[in-house]
Amino acid sequence: MDIHSHSEPNRVRVTHVSLDLVLDFEAREARGTAELSLERLDPNAPLVLDARGLLVENVMGSGGGPRDFALGEEDEQLGSALTIALEPLDRSVLIGYRTSARSDAMQWLAPEQTADGEGPFLFTQGQSIFTRTWIPLQDTPGVRVTYDAAVHAPEGLTAVMSAEPLEREDDGAFRFRMEQPVPPYLIALACGRIEFRAISSRCGVWAEPSVVAGARDELSDTEAMIASAEALFGPYRWERYDLIILPPAFPFGGMENPRLTFATPTILAGDKSLVALVAHELAHSWSGNLVTNATWSDFWLNEGFTVYLEGRIMERVFGKERAEMEQVLALHGLEKEMAELEPRDQVLHGDLAGRHPDGGFSVVPYQKGALLLRRLEQVFGREAFDRFLTRYFDEHAFQSITTADFEAYLRSELLERSPALAAQVDVRRWIHEPGLPEDAPRPSSSLLAKVDTELARWRAGAAPEELETRGWVTQQWQHFLQGLPETLTAEQMAALDRSFHFTASKNSEVLTDWLTLAIRHGYSAADARLEEFLLDVGRRKFLKPLYTELAKTEDGLRRARAIYERARPRYHAVATGTLDKILKWEA
Ligand code: BES
Ligand code: ZN
Repeated sequence: MDIHSHSEPNRVRVTHVSLDLVLDFEAREARGTAELSLERLDPNAPLVLDARGLLVENVMGSGGGPRDFALGEEDEQLGSALTIALEPLDRSVLIGYRTSARSDAMQWLAPEQTADGEGPFLFTQGQSIFTRTWIPLQDTPGVRVTYDAAVHAPEGLTAVMSAEPLEREDDGAFRFRMEQPVPPYLIALACGRIEFRAISSRCGVWAEPSVVAGARDELSDTEAMIASAEALFGPYRWERYDLIILPPAFPFGGMENPRLTFATPTILAGDKSLVALVAHELAHSWSGNLVTNATWSDFWLNEGFTVYLEGRIMERVFGKERAEMEQVLALHGLEKEMAELEPRDQVLHGDLAGRHPDGGFSVVPYQKGALLLRRLEQVFGREAFDRFLTRYFDEHAFQSITTADFEAYLRSELLERSPALAAQVDVRRWIHEPGLPEDAPRPSSSLLAKVDTELARWRAGAAPEELETRGWVTQQWQHFLQGLPETLTAEQMAALDRSFHFTASKNSEVLTDWLTLAIRHGYSAADARLEEFLLDVGRRKFLKPLYTELAKTEDGLRRARAIYERARPRYHAVATGTLDKILKWEA
């Protein structure tokens, strides 16, 4: 069972969610009803749901009349159990409720936080356990639901969801339905002044008017990615694949909401150099959305598989060299982060007892997970491993599975069929022990090796302008910045900036690497850019290293807190949760 949910789906199980919600941007609340269809496995059991930050007003049973309900004591991490007494004839319940300022899934943005500044914006973020803050339901990835929704939005705003859009009716509400069962964390809604541009007949992008044309160009390879993924891992089962570019406050790079990936505008670098994120979120259409982690301890089944698939898609669409560079950078990131983690957080099958699922968040499930799959590919051969994966997705489609389920399937379908090969990988150790096994594949990249050569020349005294950097791509610049020595003088920083214009970089990854160095080495010419970036961008992956670096000195911490005071109201709860700790902020 799932330790992060109060629900008892083995007694009464929710099978379908039907929403009817009014979005009130002035009050910053959604209000209306959620009708939950039920499977009554134990006819005497009550319905137990998860809820947090919700004001439940009334509950009606389909058997007729109101039903008693009680909100249990609030757990700091999980929220409350909402227990509803059922009558024998109840096959569904209708819950009247409203969200509150404590509904962490919902981020309401003021017009000035959007690209165009002309209207407010709302988006939801369900993963990992935030859906319960805007919809009362059984918020565990082990319980899949179909859903439909009617969303009433103010004039001029468009609502989109992780579902099929239906015709608008006379009441003007936006209507949606998702007929494939999905885990609750994939129910998602966004609403703002947005427009759509097609990329292909089954794929396109939503964004604010000033962003949408550029976004379409940047993401024009998405159709090729879908076709590649299908060739590798079997049919795409969600009909359409669209993206929405959200305002910069979005706390993640991307979120794989079915049919509609939510993405940060910081991937729009202008040269398609950061579109691996699209390959990643698209890959979740197989690993994550089709075959889902049953609990958050099995998160690596979602992310490790997805990073592996992402690499395969990138290789097919952009070539081996691009994929290799990204893998080398990722491995360095893993090694760096793993060195700082306590042993229990270095294990693929996560130990989350007593913790919020996001408390154990790191690159380990992503990169160590992907390395295990690359190791299996290496040992069993690409052809056999691809066949295994395609069948894995097929046979577990629309199911939620545990790590133990995967281990059993791997054993019977791959390991036991070739014992001699199986002896070359200690799968149990990979999944259940800390650290990185010695047989982890070591990617290498000739394009990054060139960077190492230039770094060595620079260290030996060559001036920045003497380095051979012509034609370098984003990943090479990242490798360059990450490979600079631990100590740099402000002079050296200034010389690098004069030659390579890092402070002016429009590339969010390069800029974050550079600004981290600027803080560390006291390069104050980048201060204004740093402040501007921290005030504009809400992506946790960038905020975390920058604030962490600032917090290392007393003076830096003071600066960080001054910026944070202004920026915090614009950040998502997911980001402030992490940053409050780094900056010792009392909310
Ligand atoms: N599903 C994740 C985002 C997520 C993870 C949200 C855990 C909440 C809890 C998404 O697919 C993801 O991994 N996004 C990454 C980008 C990716 C290219 C590694 C991100 O947002 O940085
Ligand atoms: Zn992911």
